[in-house]
Amino acid sequence: MSSTEGTSGTPQSVIPAHLLRGQKALVTGANSGIGRATAVALGRAGADVVVNYVAGKDEAEKVVEEITGFGVRAAAYEADVSDEQQVVAMTDRMVREFGTIDILVANAGLQRDAPFTEMTLAQWQKVLDVNLTGQFLCAREATKEFLRRGVVPEVSRAAGKIICMSSVHQIIPWAGHVNYASSKGGVQMMMETLAQELAPKKIRVNAIAPGAIKTPINRSAWETPQAREDLLRLIPYDRIGDPEDIGHAAVGLASDLMDYVVGTTLYVDGGMTLFPGFATGG
Ligand code: BGC
Repeated sequence: MSSTEGTSGTPQSVIPAHLLRGQKALVTGANSGIGRATAVALGRAGADVVVNYVAGKDEAEKVVEEITGFGVRAAAYEADVSDEQQVVAMTDRMVREFGTIDILVANAGLQRDAPFTEMTLAQWQKVLDVNLTGQFLCAREATKEFLRRGVVPEVSRAAGKIICMSSVHQIIPWAGHVNYASSKGGVQMMMETLAQELAPKKIRVNAIAPGAIKTPINRSAWETPQAREDLLRLIPYDRIGDPEDIGHAAVGLASDLMDYVVGTTLYVDGGMTLFPGFATGG
């Protein structure tokens, strides 16, 4: 692996180191997987980064160490995004310690899969609490800070940027995962509604919808050769995504290069949402 490559071979050197200079980013669930790669990519692009985690302090500290290696500031904050008081305390602390918040990546999410009739209310509730309510709370608190501060033209054309981490399952129904798919469907409508409501205040709200990205959340889908083969059948581009693919998309969406992108979902999925079954049928 050359020094310009991520853990999985995705080039890193393509990120301009100055693109987000002077901006402060909060990434939830940033101690592993997509959140981790996104926090690292934002740091590489020059942003100071708060690495939120709920469990896994050591991993979060490692992410902080990696990010500070780029010459920017970073810190690990523990908070459960589904707990209102903890979210308020986290954003208050970030404003105190970093001065403001310019970018929120509402990423923290989880799966609790079960066939429908076996799914407990607790499994349903937990996924909705973290994946949807967690994004609502973080977006609300970040927005208060964006409105308080307003636009600082030397930093960004927008008063703030919110990136909701959704999923291809905001539009692809997913048997055995009704809680997860419902949460992501909710994220899509929440994102679009917030985008409409906040655009006049110069706040850009968008979403990224990852497809199958190699992370701990879907280990069973890529771990064995058979599972990998089955999964690749759903991906026209014929590779499983790397977390860095999502980090790059987040850097772009957060930057002024995409200042006119408002209320959009960027699918980063190797074509998973293109109905690959119809390539040979229909
Ligand atoms: C899920 C993964 C799944 C992928 C594609 C993601 O949102 O978290 O488990 O592999 O969608 O189906």
